[in-house]
Amino acid sequence: MGLGVFGSVMVMTLLFQHLACQQPNTDEFFVSEFLNKMGFHNYPVSVCSWERVSCDANREHVVELNFSAMGLSGPIPDNSIGKLSKLQTLDLSFNKITALPSDFWSFSSLKTLNLSSNQISDSLNNIGNFGFLETFDLSSNNYADEIPEAIRSLVKLRVLKLSRNMFTQSIPLGILKCQSLVSIDLSSNRLNGTLPDGFEAAFPKLRTLNLAGNKIYGRVSDISGLKSIVSLNISGNLFEGSVMDVFQEQLEVLDLSRNQFQGHIPQVHYSSNFNWSHLVYLDLSDNELSGEFFQNLNQTLNIKHLNLAHNRFTRQKFPLIEMLPELEYLNLSKSSLVGNIPNEISQLSNLNALDLSTNHLTGKVPLLRNRDLQILDLSNNNLSGEVSPYVLEKLPLMEKYNFSYNNLTFCALEINHDIMQKTFFGSVNSCPIAANPTLFKRRATKHNGMKLALVLTFAMICLLAGILFLAFVCRRRTRMWEVKQSSYREEQNISGPFSFQTDSTTWVADVKQATSVPVVIFEKPLLSITFADLLSATSNFDRGTLLAEGKFGPVYRGFLPGGIHVAIKVLVVGSTLTDQEAARELECLGRIKHPNLVPLTGYCVAGDQRIAIYDYMENGSLQNLLYDLPLGLQSTEDWSTDTWEEAHNNGIQNAGSEGLLTTWPFRHKIALGTARALAFLHHGCSPPIIHRDVKASSVYLDYDLEPRLSDFGLAKIFGNGLDEEIVRGSPGYVPPEFSQPEFESPTPKSDVYCFGVVLFELITGKKPVDDDYPDDKEATLVSWVRGLVRKNQASRVIDPKIRDTGPDEQMEEALKIGYLCTADLPSKRPSMQQIVGLKKDIEPAAN
Ligand SMILES: *[C@@H]1O[C@H](CO)[C@@H](O)[C@H](O)[C@H]1NC(C)=O
Ligand SMILES: *[C@@H]1O[C@H](CO)[C@@H](O)[C@H](O)[C@H]1NC(C)=O
Ligand SMILES: *[C@@H]1O[C@H](CO)[C@@H](O)[C@H](O)[C@H]1NC(C)=O
Ligand SMILES: *[C@@H]1O[C@H](CO)[C@@H](O)[C@H](O)[C@H]1NC(C)=O
Ligand SMILES: *[C@@H]1O[C@H](CO)[C@@H](O)[C@H](O)[C@H]1NC(C)=O
Ligand SMILES: *[C@@H]1O[C@H](CO)[C@@H](O)[C@H](O)[C@H]1NC(C)=O
Ligand SMILES: *[C@@H]1O[C@H](CO)[C@@H](O)[C@H](O)[C@H]1NC(C)=O
Ligand SMILES: *[C@@H]1O[C@H](CO)[C@@H](O)[C@H](O)[C@H]1NC(C)=O
Ligand SMILES: *[C@@H]1O[C@H](CO)[C@@H](O)[C@H](O)[C@H]1NC(C)=O
Ligand SMILES: *[C@@H]1O[C@H](CO)[C@@H](O)[C@H](O)[C@H]1NC(C)=O
Repeated sequence: MGLGVFGSVMVMTLLFQHLACQQPNTDEFFVSEFLNKMGFHNYPVSVCSWERVSCDANREHVVELNFSAMGLSGPIPDNSIGKLSKLQTLDLSFNKITALPSDFWSFSSLKTLNLSSNQISDSLNNIGNFGFLETFDLSSNNYADEIPEAIRSLVKLRVLKLSRNMFTQSIPLGILKCQSLVSIDLSSNRLNGTLPDGFEAAFPKLRTLNLAGNKIYGRVSDISGLKSIVSLNISGNLFEGSVMDVFQEQLEVLDLSRNQFQGHIPQVHYSSNFNWSHLVYLDLSDNELSGEFFQNLNQTLNIKHLNLAHNRFTRQKFPLIEMLPELEYLNLSKSSLVGNIPNEISQLSNLNALDLSTNHLTGKVPLLRNRDLQILDLSNNNLSGEVSPYVLEKLPLMEKYNFSYNNLTFCALEINHDIMQKTFFGSVNSCPIAANPTLFKRRATKHNGMKLALVLTFAMICLLAGILFLAFVCRRRTRMWEVKQSSYREEQNISGPFSFQTDSTTWVADVKQATSVPVVIFEKPLLSITFADLLSATSNFDRGTLLAEGKFGPVYRGFLPGGIHVAIKVLVVGSTLTDQEAARELECLGRIKHPNLVPLTGYCVAGDQRIAIYDYMENGSLQNLLYDLPLGLQSTEDWSTDTWEEAHNNGIQNAGSEGLLTTWPFRHKIALGTARALAFLHHGCSPPIIHRDVKASSVYLDYDLEPRLSDFGLAKIFGNGLDEEIVRGSPGYVPPEFSQPEFESPTPKSDVYCFGVVLFELITGKKPVDDDYPDDKEATLVSWVRGLVRKNQASRVIDPKIRDTGPDEQMEEALKIGYLCTADLPSKRPSMQQIVGLKKDIEPAAN
């Protein structure tokens, strides 16, 4: 309170001081009047001593006022600054002044008037009174009428800035009298009509002309005579004519964009009358230019900003980069470029923006080592191959990039999904190549040449020794193979179709000649394997080699030539994809690699049948391990076939003791690995891959007892051809949203639910349905566990076999994660990435 009173007293004192000290009708008085009435009080008693005001020697007259950006608002009052008869400079820019006083027009010696960035719209008809005006800036106000003819009196005017108003009609003839003009800026108004006759010859000193953003109808001859022009901007008007006639000797900046210029560009001779060495900024975009701009480019240009986008050039080759070493901005969007993007583009050390969108560029995306690159648009071309990790690594640091609509492949794990989808959209090869992140890193680092050579030599020696050893050891076995195989080879010359039967299905491979149907093995493209080899590997898809009958179809086991141990999955259910589409999907799946995924080794399209070939998982599926058989044995395996005698021993490889599976650390490891695999599919691939069928029987253990998730991406191979029932998931694993009427399709969160069920199985050792759930005969695994977790009795569900192999708290913690995963509402479930984080926090010692 006290302070408030004190404050008012201070203001009053200041006010009185001002009034007391200043004689009425002096310049200082008028300035004080102005400030007080505009509501500005905080200024010195003697305004002449203020740095914003300059007075003449005897402090009688104010000659300069600079009240820029002082927050002044409203109309300027009469009998204030309008009365400063000797004022030369008035700067009121950046305020909120709305009107000029009626006595404003009597400054007879004003040289500089800056009213820019206010809200003034008063008539300028008296502007002719300012015969000494040299600088006049009225930009960014509310003027909406004609530029007054009276401007003709401003014969000393050097700088005229009327930009960003709404001035209409044509530029007045009077302007031709302002022959001292050095700079004219009338941009962003609503001027129309033509330029006054004689415009090109009226301004012998004109260096800068900006008429951009109007509707001025012009001809080349209106501007081609401006002999001293250095910067010309007529962007966004209705100029037409042959563009080359605009090029003037002195030009440094030329913006002719968004007009109707024509011209066949081969007229450009880089050594003719125009001296290109001055030009640093050239924008010819959005015109109707034709020909080939770079055809005759045979001298080094100093251009920094070059935009030729959106014209009608005919086929042109990429410009010679070495002729344009200064480039900072290069926009050749929609300019009919053909051929490759030269690698030399990396040498443009100042390049900041590169737009090559909508052309016919082919070949690869160069490395783009340009340090300052912020904007990159390569969309809508015909580029192919893999975008290098080097380029991808830089993207997150860039302002804008777009690779959409090409035939590119890419491997990016760290880029946000939404961005990735927008900027890599529509590539013909839109499948993810998701690589193991650690491999990815390793590839990006440089090898020491010497080291590499040593390693290679060593590897070669080992390889040789290995081959010799194998040749020796396998001799007997191969002989056995040969006998068996040759018999099949003979049979296979019989033409198809081939028909095979299992307990639950019959499937037909409608092929004419088994040896003419290729099998693609990704890592070994030179092995020419055919359907005939699949026949021999599986003894004609004999039931004895049947590993399982999955819901997509039967899975067989066999050795392909070269000793590749595989599981062969026949996708019997009808697919709506064409052979090519299915092959492409399978190619894509083949690129997806992660230590916790069962790798797709290859595939075969045999008639209607798509056959996926996986690495064989020596230690079977989680389903077998939990409920059926001791480690290493597989449920449907028939061990009686003599052909597989040696492989038989392989079957229980590395199994260790059966006890391993009945420890908490091992089960936790399986859960974590499965979570990692799903997190990778959901978050590391673009577009994200939804597994759709996570269950204990999709989780396998490899030779090293690492958990690996199988069957990812298979649903896509079927297009829309999947049975309703299959889409809906397996019993006990069906998320509640699937039975909602508004349910459309599975999401990553439905995988999360299924993962939750697998997690419960790992901890309880019970099946998802039809098991014995104490206290609750009607229950499913999910309802039983969730009920007890809710009642805080989670420890009761823990599998007695693992109870003493780890701390209860860890298992209960894991149950809580399962509880979160199995929430009814998908939105309440955590993401797989979060789950990996949570699970890692549990971290039993053995993991
Ligand atoms: C007015 O002052 C501002 C800084 O406060 C300065 O930028 C501007 O150039 C001055 N105007 C004139 C006309 O000197
Ligand atoms: C007018 O003032 C503004 C803001 O201070 C400044 O940006 C502009 O350059 C000035 N105009 C001229 C012609 O000096
Ligand atoms: C210029 O625009 C005004 C309205 O903004 C219109 O009345 C006038 O006819 C136009 N002049 C020409 C030459 O297009
Ligand atoms: C020409 O003027 C337009 C509109 O004001 C502006 O966007 C463009 O950057 C200007 N060109 C140059 C070279 O300054
Ligand atoms: C172009 O201008 C540069 C720099 O002013 C000068 O060195 C050069 O000789 C000129 N070239 C021609 C062909 O006039
Ligand atoms: C560039 O080509 C033109 C004709 O196309 C020729 O007259 C000129 O001498 C050449 N200049 C250089 C530097 O080679
Ligand atoms: C390239 O020029 C076109 C046409 O003027 C424009 O639409 C586009 O935004 C420009 N690209 C960049 C990156 O500036
Ligand atoms: C892209 O290139 C391929 C050959 O590499 C060609 O068949 C195809 O027509 C090209 N597409 C376009 C749109 O230029
Ligand atoms: C896409 O690129 C691949 C090679 O990377 C090529 O085999 C295929 O023909 C290309 N597709 C088109 C439509 O150009
Ligand atoms: C990328 O380019 C395509 C085609 O030119 C366009 O449709 C898409 O919106 C662009 N994406 C972004 C993020 O700019």
